[in-house]
Amino acid sequence: MNQTVVTLDKNGDIGVIRIDNPPVNALSQPVRAGLQAAIEQVQADATIRAVVVHAAGRTFVAGADINEFSLPELPPPGFHEIFDQLERLNRPVIAAIHGTALGGGLELALACHYRIALESAKVGLPEVHLGILPGAGGTQRLPRLIGAQAALNMILKGEHVAAAKALQLGILDAVVGDEDLLAAALRYARELLSQGKGPRRTSELTVDPASVPAGLFEQARAALQKRPTGNPAPARIIDCVEAAVSKTFAEGAALEKRLVEECRRTQESAALRHRFFAEREAAKIPGLPRDLELRTIKRVGVVGAGTMGGGIAMNFVNVGIPVRIVEVEQAALERGLGVVRKNYEISVTRGRLTAEEVEQRMALLQGTLDYADLADCDLVIEAVFEDLELKKKVCTRLGEVCKPGAIIASNTSTLDIDVLAEASGRPADFLGMHFFSPANVMRLLEVVRGAKTAPAVLVTVVNLAKTIGKVPVVSGVCFGFIGNRMLESYLREAEFLLLEGASPAQIDAAIQSLGLPMGPCRMLDLAGVDVGAKVVFEQAKAGILPPDPSYRVVVQKLYELGRYGQKTGAGYYKYDGRMPLEDPEVETICRQLAAEHGIQRRSDISEQEIIERCLYPLINEGAKILEEGIAYRASDIDVVWINGYGFPDYRGGPMFWADSIGLDRIAERLDHYAQVRGNEYGYWTRAALLTRLVNEGRKFADLGIMQG
Ligand code: CAA
Ligand code: NAI
Repeated sequence: MNQTVVTLDKNGDIGVIRIDNPPVNALSQPVRAGLQAAIEQVQADATIRAVVVHAAGRTFVAGADINEFSLPELPPPGFHEIFDQLERLNRPVIAAIHGTALGGGLELALACHYRIALESAKVGLPEVHLGILPGAGGTQRLPRLIGAQAALNMILKGEHVAAAKALQLGILDAVVGDEDLLAAALRYARELLSQGKGPRRTSELTVDPASVPAGLFEQARAALQKRPTGNPAPARIIDCVEAAVSKTFAEGAALEKRLVEECRRTQESAALRHRFFAEREAAKIPGLPRDLELRTIKRVGVVGAGTMGGGIAMNFVNVGIPVRIVEVEQAALERGLGVVRKNYEISVTRGRLTAEEVEQRMALLQGTLDYADLADCDLVIEAVFEDLELKKKVCTRLGEVCKPGAIIASNTSTLDIDVLAEASGRPADFLGMHFFSPANVMRLLEVVRGAKTAPAVLVTVVNLAKTIGKVPVVSGVCFGFIGNRMLESYLREAEFLLLEGASPAQIDAAIQSLGLPMGPCRMLDLAGVDVGAKVVFEQAKAGILPPDPSYRVVVQKLYELGRYGQKTGAGYYKYDGRMPLEDPEVETICRQLAAEHGIQRRSDISEQEIIERCLYPLINEGAKILEEGIAYRASDIDVVWINGYGFPDYRGGPMFWADSIGLDRIAERLDHYAQVRGNEYGYWTRAALLTRLVNEGRKFADLGIMQG
């Protein structure tokens, strides 16, 4: 037996199998081998009358070791083999669950005969988020235990289910409060023995076909067809759960084994696994001293109760952190607080919050017109209008009123964080916290590290982001940071394509065919053509626009005409409610602009050209961001695009996607467009890093940590 990760001890006549594989007790090969050895030892020891399986550290088993899915073959022993062996033991086996029993962890528990858990524990089969299905018997045992409908729902959603609910569903047999779980499990085992209860094997149960709602599987398949996804798992999950109803356990298990193997070998599953690790990597900041003294954030201040300020405040209130929100005048304050309340009330109508919880949250949110009220805040985030002079004044004021050691942050999307940091008078305490709209919903937070931001400030904010449920990515200072800087090249090409003769619908359809929720024209109409145009004006002010008179002229023209998008009923489209309709007026505008700027119209723009022209420059910009050290890793850029811009997770983000296309191909197409479109303004000039990677036959994924 592997002594270090799995041990078998005896507590009287009860065998105690303990898994100890930090950080999350993943079932890597040594754990599987250790489990197998422990089971064989139990088989050989007739004095053991019952077995408890538990885990050391912060959690029960969090699943298979996701790293192993990238190996050509999963090293033996296999999950089915061990779990079947465990279930076949002729003495009661009890799983004792704390923390989370996820994926293979829950499947291990399902192979045990009884399950006891702490009330704080959660269970789930989240494999679908990795583009695979539960591949250790879960698709066969769970329906046998809780019924096909509940199991299908749980596996397709991949949710974590709280212990109380799991008990109700029949996944757990007992839940205990805050006590010594191992002691409770041993007591439970002895009770079973005294009641003469023996093994209870889930694989021997059958699903009563009468308990399966008519059309359950057909409806699930129809729903998938209606909302197709690139994820290879859901369709196969339905097949497996159906097999749990109609086939023997052995037949169902064989199907599960085959289908999980098919899933794991897909590019989409590889992309989803990349996302899993990329999000965790992104929170790691390289090169920092280990003994940083982090700051404690117990109270937060927000300046400006507009669209962003209100949403930002909600994030903190939602996790019990009190917020002071400052406005310039009472009416604006009341309006802002009213919007927050309305958002919470919508959650009540959707059953996500109770009326009492709304009051508790609103009580944590205190409005004020006096900056002096921010004096006891540990972090203050300014979210006033995007105006440099105004923001500088606000930051100077914050530098005066905030207590020593408080962190000051700006939510600016375009302004120079270093300039604002200097205005505050304490640049070491200053950074950017770039939330995305709606700020209470969007998961991404770009944490912008200024030239003088203290490492402890940066780490404090990255950790805080995780506390409020955000995915933090650190960006250096540049116009647009990581996400919006890359977006610029995408929007630039979309506009040139409009001038050359593509319609908004044609461009959007091409981009959406890749799995993005909306193309650039619909996105700008939703975000506001005015907002989009102002970004161009800001770039002009900052002196960073190319000297190209045809640069993003469409958005500027639509702005001039008051076509602000959905909110004014017309933008790149005209609107019937929220429904975008093609507008011949836009074609006329583009035709005129093309004529003014001497741009040739043509009718041969293909879907592939749209994809290449919008997305390959975006990838090229990503490479520049890496070579400048604005982002630490290619995978950080992927995290930004998946969580902030709807890039399909099953493509892994733009940099992972580029690797899968081949960087030589990307480079060749950039060169091609440089030739056919001309390259007067450097739009198609390859990033030096891209050329280097192509020459060395390497990928973005091969790069280490980049620091500018
Ligand atoms: N395999 C390998 N590594 C894992 C892992 C897994 N299943 N789960 C977590 N880790 C690693 C993380 O990468 C991270 O590593 P670093 O510290 O090096 O970054 C570390 O464990 C801690 O993870 P988190 O930062 O996520 O810690 P947390 O406390 O915030 O969350 C958790 C803990 C809820 C368990 C979360 O890690 C999680 O959701 N893990 C994945 C669960 C999962 O998807 N399980 C199914 C696996 S597939 C499977 O089991 C297939 C099958 O049928 C056999
Ligand atoms: P907004 O116009 O909705 O709100 C700004 C609020 O600030 C207004 O309520 C205004 O009364 C208040 N305000 C102005 N001066 C103030 C002062 N001196 N003290 C206190 N309050 C003051 O603007 P929005 O959209 O919320 O944007 C705020 C910031 O967030 C900007 O920097 C913007 O670039 C950034 N941002 C906006 C995003 C968006 O999608 N709206 C996305 C990401 C960042």
